[in-house]
Amino acid sequence: DRVSLWGGRFAGGPADALAALSKSTHFDWRLAPYDIAGSRAHARVLHRAGLLDDSTLEGMLDALARLLADVESGAFVPAEDDEDVHTALERGLIERAGADVGGRLRAGRSRNDQIATLFRMYLRDHARSVATLVLDVVDALVHQSQRHLTVPMPGRTHLQHAQPVLLSHHLLAHAWALLRDVQRLQDWDARANVSPYGSGALAGSSLGLDPEAVAADLGFATSVENSIDGTASRDFVAEFAFVAAMTAVDVSRLAEEVVLWATKEFSFVTLDDAYSTGSSIMPQKKNPDVAELARGKAGRLVGDLAGLLTTLKSLPLAYNRDLQEDKEPVFDAVDTLEVLLPAFAGMVATMEFNTHRLASLAPQGFSLATDIAEWLVREGVPFRVAHEVAGACVRACEQRGIELWDLTDDDLTAISPHLTPGVREVLSVEGSLASRSSKGGTAPDRVREQLAALTGAAATA
Ligand code: ARG
Repeated sequence: DRVSLWGGRFAGGPADALAALSKSTHFDWRLAPYDIAGSRAHARVLHRAGLLDDSTLEGMLDALARLLADVESGAFVPAEDDEDVHTALERGLIERAGADVGGRLRAGRSRNDQIATLFRMYLRDHARSVATLVLDVVDALVHQSQRHLTVPMPGRTHLQHAQPVLLSHHLLAHAWALLRDVQRLQDWDARANVSPYGSGALAGSSLGLDPEAVAADLGFATSVENSIDGTASRDFVAEFAFVAAMTAVDVSRLAEEVVLWATKEFSFVTLDDAYSTGSSIMPQKKNPDVAELARGKAGRLVGDLAGLLTTLKSLPLAYNRDLQEDKEPVFDAVDTLEVLLPAFAGMVATMEFNTHRLASLAPQGFSLATDIAEWLVREGVPFRVAHEVAGACVRACEQRGIELWDLTDDDLTAISPHLTPGVREVLSVEGSLASRSSKGGTAPDRVREQLAALTGAAATA
C-alpha cells in the first residue's frame, strides 16, 4: 500500500489515478529547504511547550540537519509514492530519526499552515533576487543615459514625431517605471512579512504552541491575527504575480522599441553580437531575439496572473485543494524573470546608439511646431491663435517641401504679423530642448537632475 499521512480512517490507499492527480512533488520540491526550516522552528516550540524532551529535540534537530544536507546534495529526493514536499520530508525525517522521534513533529501543525508559510518564505527570497535583477536593467539604462546625456532624438506620440527629446530622457522614462516595480516588491514584502505557522488546518492549535516564536525563527516580523485567513488567503501570491507581470509588461514596452530601433528603417541602435541571433538560412540576418523573447514572455506572465486569480475567484474559506494550483504559475513567473532579466540587462548595456541619426531625425516631421506656438504664447498671443498660426506654418512648408526653419522672414510675416524673426531662437532642436525646463522636462539641466534623483532612489531601493 501507498504511504499516506492519514492511514487510520481508510481501509486502503488511494487509487493510482488519484495519486497521479494529487501529486505535487515535481513542482513543490523547490520548497524543501523552507519546509525543513519550518520543521526546525516547530520542533523548538513543541519543546518549549513541554511536548518534546531535550534529547528528543536534539535527535530531531540532528535528523533535520542531516535531511537538509541530503536534500541539498541530491542524496534525498521524493519517492514515486510521496504526495507532496511535506509527505516526502516526513518520510525522510522518520528514516533518519526513527518513527518514535520523527512521528512527533506533526503535532499541532497541518500542511495547510505549512504550505502557506513556506510559499511566503520562498517568494520573499525571490522578491529580493528579482528586485536585484530589475535594478541591473535600471543600471544599464542609467549608464546609457549618462553616455548619451545630451543626444537629441525624435520624441513620439502615436508613434508619430511629436517633439524633440533627449535620448537620456527617453531611456530614463523606462528606468523610472522599472524602479517602481522594485518599490512594489518592497511594499509587497511588508504585507508578506507575516507567518501563518501555528494556524493548523484552519482553527489554530490546542497544544500551547507559540506562533510568534515560530515567526521570529523564520524571519517574519509577526504571525497572522486570524488562523482562517492565514491558511486560506493567497492575496500575497496574487500580488506578487501582479508585480511580476507588471515588471514583464514594463520590460516589454522597451523591448518593442528596441525591436523597432534595430530595423533598417529606424537604424537607431545596433545590438551587440553577443545579444543578437542569426538565421539558419539568411546569412545576412541579425535578429533582436532577446527583445522579442522579452515581449513574448510578458504575455506568459500576464497569463500566470490571470490563471491564479481565476483559481482564487469564489473559493470558499478555509483551505481547499484548489490552492495547490497557486504554485506553478508563480514559480513560472519567477523562473521566467530570473532567466529573462539578465539577458535583457546585457542587451541594454551593450546597445550602440546611432547618435547622428537620432539627432538628425529629432527635428523632422515638423516636430518644432509646438515651439512656434509656445513662443507666440510667450509673446502674448492667445494659444488658440498661436496653434492656428503654427499649423499654417506646417501647411506652408508641407506644400513647398521645406522645413520650418527654411521659412524666410517674409514667409513668416505673411503667415502672421506675430511671427517676427525672434521665433528662430526656438526653431532649433537645442533651443526647443532648452526651453522645456520645467521640472520633469527634457531640458538638459532637468535631465541631469532627474538622473541624480533616479540614481539616489535606486541606491536606496
Ligand atoms: N500540497 C498542498 C498544497 O500545495 C498542501 C497540502 C494540503 N493538503 C490537504 N489535503 N489539506 O496546497
